[in-house]
Amino acid sequence: MRIVFPDGFFWGTSTAAAQVETAGDHPWCGLKARDGHEFRHTTDHEKRRSEDADLILRFGTVYRCSVDWSRLQPEPMARFDKKVVGEYVNFFEKLQKGGVKLMFVLHHFAHPNWFEARGGWTNEDNIPFFLDFVRQCLKHFEPYVRYWNTFNEPNVYAMNAFLLGNFPPGKKHRYGLANRVLDNMGRAHEIARVMIGEKSDAPVGISLNTAHFEGTGLAGSLVAAFVRWWFMTRAARPFRKCDFWGLSYYAFVPFAPFPLDVLNNRAELEKRHIPHDNLWGYKPEGLGPVLRRFAKKYGKPIVITENGLCTDDPQQRIRAIRDYLKVCREAIDDGVNLLGYIHWSTWDNFEWHLGPTFRFGLVRVDFRTMERSMTPAGLFYEKVVRENGLEV
Ligand code: BGC
Repeated sequence: MRIVFPDGFFWGTSTAAAQVETAGDHPWCGLKARDGHEFRHTTDHEKRRSEDADLILRFGTVYRCSVDWSRLQPEPMARFDKKVVGEYVNFFEKLQKGGVKLMFVLHHFAHPNWFEARGGWTNEDNIPFFLDFVRQCLKHFEPYVRYWNTFNEPNVYAMNAFLLGNFPPGKKHRYGLANRVLDNMGRAHEIARVMIGEKSDAPVGISLNTAHFEGTGLAGSLVAAFVRWWFMTRAARPFRKCDFWGLSYYAFVPFAPFPLDVLNNRAELEKRHIPHDNLWGYKPEGLGPVLRRFAKKYGKPIVITENGLCTDDPQQRIRAIRDYLKVCREAIDDGVNLLGYIHWSTWDNFEWHLGPTFRFGLVRVDFRTMERSMTPAGLFYEKVVRENGLEV
């Protein structure tokens, strides 16, 4: 069956500065990842911008990315470093000339060490530092931006940094702090949104991570219901003043009653015949109810800001793109105002605390030489983008 997307539907891919550039002075720098790699040289993107731009141009009209705040602003309230601004502007110019505009993410899991040293997002007094960063981003990068994402996945950030201990500052079980971080990010988002609105016509939203949580047994169902509420309702609340909802979706997480994932419970997932990628349970149908729920609850347009699969196998990635796009098309048929789809990720990159061998790229990166090579999944996605549709 052939599915076609509405006229004006947009396509794109995404990366994040910390995951693709050599680490600046931010809290991830030097961290030892689970696969043994050190978080420092990620993908040498800053040395390969021209080549990477050519890849990005093959995948749609929107490129979702961020900039390294710590390189732009080595000290609080300092004027952006001119050289670094120039580096980004040249790159964004090249994309713009090729017909690609940005979805500009202001915070994607990384901020300067000086910001972290002052308490990071747990400290409300830090909000003005972020707003100064936003002001200068507007000044230099606004002409290249089609959409703004103030925050990438505040729920994933707060959960990993303050509940699970996976992200710096590595705190565990600090539920109060996690909520405080969400609320501070929400305050920053609200002010940033007004500031952006004064200088830019581009719509402003966040990207919230969504997932399918399902419990087995009474205990599992109760835990799943709580996590579902915290992750997709409580965490969304501080950001409801937005022009669109950016939603990302990757995972099906069964609760039995503890969450089952591939790194900790592969055997259990397999025993239960739950399909999975290299990280999580796989259930593309789970995205449908999420889209309908957000559309109904908030009445705002939606963009898929991230969606992808952790695998080394391009054929598996192609199947996932097919499955997910089918779900997206069905949601549109049901009246969801879905504006576009952004795939994660353009090329393999440094998967945070896990390391670069957890691959998501349409383009494969050889982490020894940093060479890029197009994969069959990349060619497949390029064709989907060109035809605004596909066979499913
Ligand atoms: C994040 C990305 C990450 C991806 C895959 C999202 O939660 O925004 O930075 O690489 O998921 O785990």
